[in-house]
Amino acid sequence: MNFKVKIWKQKHIDADGQLVDFEVDDLSESASTLDLLDKINETQKEKNEEPVAFDHACRKANCGQCSLVINGIPHGPEPLTASCQMTMDYFKNGSTITIEPFRAKALPIIQDLKVDRSAITRILGAGGFMHVPSTGGFINKDSGSYLPPIPAGIAGSTDFRFNASSCINCAACVAACKNSSAMLYTSVKVFQLNSLETEESEKEKRVINMLTSMDEEGFGNCSNYGECEAVCPKGLSLNFISEMNREYAKASLKQVFRK
Ligand code: SF4
Ligand code: FES
Repeated sequence: MNFKVKIWKQKHIDADGQLVDFEVDDLSESASTLDLLDKINETQKEKNEEPVAFDHACRKANCGQCSLVINGIPHGPEPLTASCQMTMDYFKNGSTITIEPFRAKALPIIQDLKVDRSAITRILGAGGFMHVPSTGGFINKDSGSYLPPIPAGIAGSTDFRFNASSCINCAACVAACKNSSAMLYTSVKVFQLNSLETEESEKEKRVINMLTSMDEEGFGNCSNYGECEAVCPKGLSLNFISEMNREYAKASLKQVFRK
């Protein structure tokens, strides 16, 4: 398959960026968006020109590193699909594909398609865990124990808790939201981490700390637009947000009475 490709190029956070035109020929239908970028970079190398900078690790929808806006949609137009799993057969042969980075105040561009997603990592940190981007798993900050990622391919599971574990920390929900809200991400993580917790007081502390961190990191408020749910590659639902709001109200009330 052959494509015209427009890619966002930007040297660093303070530089002006622009869409640059490329052409790619002879891609197989099963090639992914990342294969397309690899092919462009092979040609760039042959021409002694600067490659396109982009993030990736697992290429299996596990690690959440491939943060691409494809044809205007975080992770692209195919539902329940991370950028690394978005394949060329979804596009018309000969068409133009536009690839840009995730955009949000709290996710600054590092270079080209690479963004700094450390703000969402810090929300997780406020909940007591660290994300391991190379594997997609987590480390408990106190005990050092490792929580492995859930394998790809479980989107749509009816198990609420299992679904929460499928979040890949990609931040597409933030990039899709008009307010750049991280409410879906935060609520999913609160639910996931609290489902492993036995102490009620720890659960309360976690929901308050993670929401406070979310505000401090400059993410916007939730207005229930629903774009987050629509682009989430794991199909995680807005129900997590209402669940978290309930937990937050309960925890805040208890704190007031304890004072
Ligand atoms: S909730 Fe969905 S879109 Fe948001 S970080 Fe998790 S997997 Fe990505
Ligand atoms: S590279 Fe896409 S999720 Fe890991």
